[in-house]
Amino acid sequence: MERTSVAIVGAGPAGLLLGCILAAEGVDFVLVEHRSREHVLSRIRAGVLEQASVDVLDRYGLGERLHREGLVHGGVYLQAGADRFHVDFEELVGRTVTVYGQQQVVLDLMRHHDELGSAVHYGATDVMPSGVDGDDPHLRFTADGEEHDVAADVIVGADGYHGVCRTLIPDEVLAPAERGYDAAWLGILADVAPSTDELIYALHPDGFAMHSMRSPSVSRLYLQVDPTEDIADWSDERIWEGLQERLATPGWTLTPGPITEKSITPMRSSVAATLAYGRLFLAGDAGHIVPPTGAKGLNAAIADVALLGAALAEHARGSDGPLGAYSERALARQWKVQSFSQFMTDLLHTPGSAVPADERAFRYFSRVGQLRYVQGSRYAQQFIAEQYTGLAIA
Ligand code: FAD
Ligand code: DHB
Repeated sequence: MERTSVAIVGAGPAGLLLGCILAAEGVDFVLVEHRSREHVLSRIRAGVLEQASVDVLDRYGLGERLHREGLVHGGVYLQAGADRFHVDFEELVGRTVTVYGQQQVVLDLMRHHDELGSAVHYGATDVMPSGVDGDDPHLRFTADGEEHDVAADVIVGADGYHGVCRTLIPDEVLAPAERGYDAAWLGILADVAPSTDELIYALHPDGFAMHSMRSPSVSRLYLQVDPTEDIADWSDERIWEGLQERLATPGWTLTPGPITEKSITPMRSSVAATLAYGRLFLAGDAGHIVPPTGAKGLNAAIADVALLGAALAEHARGSDGPLGAYSERALARQWKVQSFSQFMTDLLHTPGSAVPADERAFRYFSRVGQLRYVQGSRYAQQFIAEQYTGLAIA
């Protein structure tokens, strides 16, 4: 049997960053991931880091490549029909965001663990946390053909929405508050220079569209589609046509290019009633998920582990106050994030086909009205700028 202070399940951004924080704080840990390292690195997901997230990565010496290669954006464009306007975060709230793919964050974190020689096990099977409601939690797993039984002081579930850790919490305690959406995102990655200097979020009668990027030569774009759509029905031509149509504005052209990845992701909002159960603590998607429109999923995971890492360090030094307060503090911030993500999602998407035509028209035009209000109101723009660039992690 092995022994550690913290056993972490899941090597996504939450688990990997928590490991880096614990290492910096001198707390020993074991990190177990059931996918291969290559698989974790190949998952294309989020792309925008809040200023607060960049600050956390800097604090632990993890921001070097991010500052070299990340694209600092001082604002975003919002668009209603063909009417596009800029929301200038720097001018409105004095803050920026950094466009840097989640995969790059994950790669930086993995490399840091390589340098530290951390106990990180990829490709583990039979990952079984247990005993979290008693005094003797264990994490059992098999890695590289060897069976492990790790006795831990604390287990952290950083294993995402479909992970095993949240299933250890009784249903009536986990009790997630949830809502679904009648829309999904079709996302593409394309080998073409972005046609915009900053991100464009557009509402069009056919649905939402977005233009993001990963680098000066790689574009990331999204289209709202019905959740029942099959990606096989979306040829590259059809995707570019949809994007051209929805993002069109006078005097601007969207340059298409070879699509290297495409997939459809459904949208959901969910928040567990607690992130703490006995010796188990949830962080990131394991505890909550947001629809992607506010670019908050990755940032919320970073915020959770910044709080949890500091609390676990205090716990190791004999003070349990911050760990006892973790769930409440993280959820208080998370509900603000949920509210903003829901606001951005409702603002920018058209209702699904099940909604009657007259109500669809009403909802669409009221959203156009709201976007025009934002366009003309510094207060409304500050409301968006402050939340998009990220609330304090406290
Ligand atoms: P994850 O990244 O999900 O990491 C959890 C890890 O745990 C995974 O590596 C998983 O393999 C591992 N794991 C699961 N079960 C087990 C187990 N039983 N044993 C061991 N390991 C386990 N957010 C945005 O802001 N913008 C986006 O565009 C965006 N796109 C997304 C697209 C997709 C398809 C998905 C799923 C999410 C997207 N998100 C996006 C959300 C964002 O990527 C997540 O919020 C972020 O990854 C959360 O990090 P995490 O570490 O908490 O969870
Ligand atoms: C990206 C994803 C988002 O959800 C978002 O709001 C902005 C950008 C991206 O993948 O680049």
